[in-house]
Amino acid sequence: MSEPRAPAQAPSLLVTRRLPGLVETRLAAQFRTVLNENDESLARGALEAAMREQDGLLTTITDRIDAALIATKGRRVGIIANFGTGTDHIDVDAAKLAGIIVTNTPDALTEATAELTILLMLMAARRAGEGERVLRAGEWKGWGPTQLIGQGLAGRTLGLVGFGRIARRTAAKARGLGMSVRYFSRSRAPAEVEQALGAAAAESLADLAAEADILSLHVPGGADTYHLVDRGILARMKPTGILVNTARGSVVDEAALAEVLAEGRIAAAGLDVYEREPEVEPMLLSLHNAILLPHLGSATIEARTAMGMQAADNLEDYFAGREPRNRVA
Ligand code: 8YV
Repeated sequence: MSEPRAPAQAPSLLVTRRLPGLVETRLAAQFRTVLNENDESLARGALEAAMREQDGLLTTITDRIDAALIATKGRRVGIIANFGTGTDHIDVDAAKLAGIIVTNTPDALTEATAELTILLMLMAARRAGEGERVLRAGEWKGWGPTQLIGQGLAGRTLGLVGFGRIARRTAAKARGLGMSVRYFSRSRAPAEVEQALGAAAAESLADLAAEADILSLHVPGGADTYHLVDRGILARMKPTGILVNTARGSVVDEAALAEVLAEGRIAAAGLDVYEREPEVEPMLLSLHNAILLPHLGSATIEARTAMGMQAADNLEDYFAGREPRNRVA
């Protein structure tokens, strides 16, 4: 049986990257969907053409939607439905001024990203990357009582920078591992949330950095958080401290972090995001105490399908003349 296709008068949509099958099937049934068959990041020219030719775009973090693109002459696009929560790759203010609606997928990836945060915490604390490299290199001589000794997480303090959905899910999971939780955020969480998660607010980011055994970042990217974790904050961390970043690379001064790790001024870092993806600061690549993952935060079939469905819901709302449920501009 062939899959349903959208009628000829349905709105047109460019989907900039390949998405899980269930999502593509739904989109093709509702919109005149153009897929990016080879799944490589689209060139600027292709995005400009889409701005002129399509009614909507379904974008990802690999599309740079800046003010100049938004100002494309003869633009037809009325909605940019982003697949993902972070929208720092889209000039949201320019879109707003131009009257283009931007939406995101805030709930769909919370669980997956909190899980990956815990994974990085464990990998960094238990030196899992080093262990795997030793074994695969054929250098493992057998069990040893002092071999690759790491740190346990139980009884340690997790410091969360930002206290939104992902940070709170991470807090709940960390409590299950026997950790205590502190956080720093621009606005204080309601007392009942703090109580339910056993999370206490720190006075400042510098205080949190000094108190935490693991400092984990959960703030959006963009100008407001650029290099929030700089040399000064890194210097506040304990020599046994671990930095985890599943938020955005731009939040950390990557070159300063590499230096601090190389000099053993903190114990380790677990990173899923980088300042210039897919480039990674070369020094980090050579460091045994840097755990480096390729932006896998939301990479579960559950999360990626839910993200696609949430983006489709937003497109459906917009083209039906309703307020999209996850509007950011
Ligand atoms: C997404 C993310 O996979 O949602 C986000 O902000 O960083 C990722 O988990 C990516 O943005 C997809 O566009």
